Amino acid sequence: MFIGIDLGTSSVKSILVDGGQRLLASATCPLEVQRPAPGHSEQDPEAWWQAVLTTLDALRADQRTAFETTEGIGLSGQMHGAVVLDGKGQVLRPCILWDDVRSTAECVAFEEAFPDSRQVTGNLAMPGFTAPKLLWLRNHEPAVFERTAKVVLPKAYVRFRLTGLLIEDMSDASGTLWLDTGARRWSAPALAATGLGEEAMPDLVEGNASAGQMTDDLVRRFGFRRAPVVAGGAGDNAAGAIGLGAISAGRAFVSLGTSGVLWATTDRFVPYPEAAVHAFCHAVPATWHQMGVTLSAAAALGWWAKVAGASEADLAGALADPPKAPSPATFLPYLAGERTPHNDGAIRGAFADLSYGADRDALTQAVLEGVAFSFRDCLDALAKSGTTIDEADVIGGGSRARVWIGILASVLGVTLHRLADGEHGPAFGAARLARLAVTGEAPEDVCAPPRRIEAIAPVPALVDAYAGRFERYRALYPALRP
Ligand code: XUL
Repeated sequence: MFIGIDLGTSSVKSILVDGGQRLLASATCPLEVQRPAPGHSEQDPEAWWQAVLTTLDALRADQRTAFETTEGIGLSGQMHGAVVLDGKGQVLRPCILWDDVRSTAECVAFEEAFPDSRQVTGNLAMPGFTAPKLLWLRNHEPAVFERTAKVVLPKAYVRFRLTGLLIEDMSDASGTLWLDTGARRWSAPALAATGLGEEAMPDLVEGNASAGQMTDDLVRRFGFRRAPVVAGGAGDNAAGAIGLGAISAGRAFVSLGTSGVLWATTDRFVPYPEAAVHAFCHAVPATWHQMGVTLSAAAALGWWAKVAGASEADLAGALADPPKAPSPATFLPYLAGERTPHNDGAIRGAFADLSYGADRDALTQAVLEGVAFSFRDCLDALAKSGTTIDEADVIGGGSRARVWIGILASVLGVTLHRLADGEHGPAFGAARLARLAVTGEAPEDVCAPPRRIEAIAPVPALVDAYAGRFERYRALYPALRP
């Protein structure tokens, strides 16, 4: 038996799978995000831990015998967050999350202090990443910075509570800006640029390697027969890729989660920071990936659902699938700034081209299209780096809206695959990494792709219509800049 734990932004999800990779039990526990100031986004690491305990208790209540024979646990986590610990492992302040954009000025300072940053880390300094957050702490909360002995990412904190060990995997470590991403090791000059040394970092392992085992106290608390091995695990996007079996170069997927990610697996380190393409390690050895990241994807529809006073499903369900034509309205989904291709923490979203005819459905369609256009920006950014995508799987909560997948296919000009119901997300990828850490099997023997149930191809008439609308979308960004 293997457990996968996905520490997301809106919830913790844990699953129990058997040796045949069948799902035995699943449990989720919601999480809140605190936004104490505009552009700030935080969570209390203790809330994550309590949610992890709640989901593990629920798995045990559901499948006690199977649960107690668990051999391995894998972790997936929201990326980039800065958890700062003192010398005794106590959390010094709430975690500053991946979608927090307070550290824009510190990004400039970081690149000035480490001019080779883009080549070494493969990435543009963006406020979502961990290193600028630590510079912000140094500038704005010096007492906290002074007491910081270790900086870890969200899932490494959960691992710390599970095992007592401070260890991180390569895929998540890539999102710190402290990794020499091509060499898969911490970069001393990157750390020095934030006033830190390697002693402030957790040890590094590959995602499919063992990173210790559960503490005796917890083994007793949960009634495990033997202490489960805890695998290196992965950042949530890499864990999603493992769940989809996207481990060979050329595999691509679209993740319509809180954030939106266009992912391409690569067999080498392919940085293209000029367009804010993310170039990271994958969670299996000698493999990397590129991502275009849009900060508000399903979160944009969630925002609109709240404003409109309806559920996401009802709003999307009211639209013609496929739409006859683009919405006359235009939406820019920059509710919390944007990463690819703009790297702009200050930009905010907008509705444009509104007339008296702009009813609820027109605005819902504009929201889905605006997010699709932001994915088109990501596709174009990846293309500039030489990565072309002809087809991609779609995962994430937003993929429940079939109409959205169709809009995306026509905006991107890429055939998109709907997947059979069942587990293939980050928690499942984490459970696969747990299995790999326990058995030592080859990743390709375990990471099979899920069953595709429908290929949604671009609709030629819509492709043409959206090409024009995309130009309009792009022209609005400079006009919106503060
Ligand atoms: C990726 C990113 C997000 C988070 C969401 O760079 O910031 O996808 O990982 O959990």
